[in-house]
Amino acid sequence: MKIALDRREAVAASVDVVVAGVAERAEKDPLPRRLQRESEACNGLLAAAWQRGEIKGKRAEVTVLHRPDGRGRVLIVGLGPVAGRDAEGIRRAAATAVRALKGKGARTVGFKLASFVSDGARSEAAVRAIADGAALGAYEFLKYRSTSDGGVEEATIQLGEEHQREESGLRSALDQQLEVIEAVLYTRDIANVPANTATPQWLAEEALRLGKELGVKVTVFDEAKLAEMHCGGLLAVGGGSDHPPRMVVLEYPGAGRSGKTVAVVGKGITFDSGGISIKPGPMMADMKFDKSGACAVLGIVRAAASLKVAPRVIGVLACAENLLGGGAYRPGDIVRTYNGKTIEVRNTDAEGRVVLSDALAYAAEKYKPDALVELSTLTGAEVIALGDDTAAVVSNDDALVTRLLAASAATGEPLWRMPLSDYHRDLVKSDVGDVRNNTEITVAGLLQGAAFLENFMGPGAWAHIDMAGPAYTSMTTRKYQPPYQCIGATGFGVRMVTRYLLDQAK
Ligand code: BES
Ligand code: ZN
Ligand code: ZN
Repeated sequence: MKIALDRREAVAASVDVVVAGVAERAEKDPLPRRLQRESEACNGLLAAAWQRGEIKGKRAEVTVLHRPDGRGRVLIVGLGPVAGRDAEGIRRAAATAVRALKGKGARTVGFKLASFVSDGARSEAAVRAIADGAALGAYEFLKYRSTSDGGVEEATIQLGEEHQREESGLRSALDQQLEVIEAVLYTRDIANVPANTATPQWLAEEALRLGKELGVKVTVFDEAKLAEMHCGGLLAVGGGSDHPPRMVVLEYPGAGRSGKTVAVVGKGITFDSGGISIKPGPMMADMKFDKSGACAVLGIVRAAASLKVAPRVIGVLACAENLLGGGAYRPGDIVRTYNGKTIEVRNTDAEGRVVLSDALAYAAEKYKPDALVELSTLTGAEVIALGDDTAAVVSNDDALVTRLLAASAATGEPLWRMPLSDYHRDLVKSDVGDVRNNTEITVAGLLQGAAFLENFMGPGAWAHIDMAGPAYTSMTTRKYQPPYQCIGATGFGVRMVTRYLLDQAK
């Protein structure tokens, strides 16, 4: 979708549909003044609908009116109660509007900016949120489909008299946001590709292609190189598949003078069958999304390089396919990882932490990052704990968490900190090796994962983000997730971590 600013007033502009937001109203509230012109354009039908109480301004409420002169439509989308309304409400409203127009012959839409702005979301935040909602809400994964649902192709955000003076500031905010959005859509596109195409080598080739496009250095470690490097975790998990494991490293040099380095590490399991500890059928169906962390890392590096963020950014992907071939690793195996620590494999379905052990230790040792942020669809326990919309963060550094939580709040990607203690550290100690990847008690599964990963982090600040819930949307969770998350990969983490990188000092 093309998104641009337009100085003109919405009604005068030539778009198929003018979209305006309205806040939840009290019964006797008159039609808001700024909708007067739309109402006139519809021969007073808008005012009539308002008077009848058809338009209440409730969240996700959509009312469409046709102009009798045939020159387009007006779509009124409810924003919900005024109190506490923020950018997330606008993001959802914009997505609701474009989704409502899917398959309805609307090619161009114009959002009336002034009708969305509120105390909780000033004009710049509103512009970013409208762009997010429109572009992410309209997204379709078309690679394998011969037809599209025929959605909105072009959106303008219309400043009108109220906001014309802010044009240049709003324009640069929008330009920046459009780069972030491109990165999210790119992440969705690759994460949605199924495992019969998206193998570890496919992800590596995608990274190489992206690196060329961005002018970013990319290194791929194949199975021979991984053996030389003693990456026993990646080799163990990848052993059961005909598609061998890869570790991929992307290096964006940074545009700032601070010399700070941020490493971003992603779990790239192209398919998670569970391995010998095989998953039951229904639990396996969505497991092509188990590479969502690695795909997010590609999106983050893409956004970082195209927006020229200040810190150096190192992206590391831990890619393997978890299958049951003759070379598969088994429960009881003990493997030695890149930093020399050994893992006792108790359950081959806890494979994410096993591949991440090598990638994390490599990133920490080779690049000595000031901050290491790791993204993974690590545990079902995360989904149980926080649901389908919220990711968990576990970290050794309060300042890093504060920054990530601020970026989360600014972008509307929910994040919640979870507490790691010696209780969890003791749980993952092994009798026969250094750590075990599963225990006999199913408590705090999310934190068992974090306690395990801690062995391969550091010594600098690190944050483990378990996004098993929000990384993808399934048919059953769809109606509970925000309208800008379509079925399939969500690209979760890209907006938040890019914001975090943009907020770093020069
Ligand atoms: N990829 C899964 C976690 C997952 C589950 C992601 C559901 C998205 C939705 C992970 O590899 C896994 O299977 N974890 C196990 C760990 C357990 C065996 C310790 C789990 O959570 O059950
Ligand atoms: Zn698994
Ligand atoms: Zn997994």
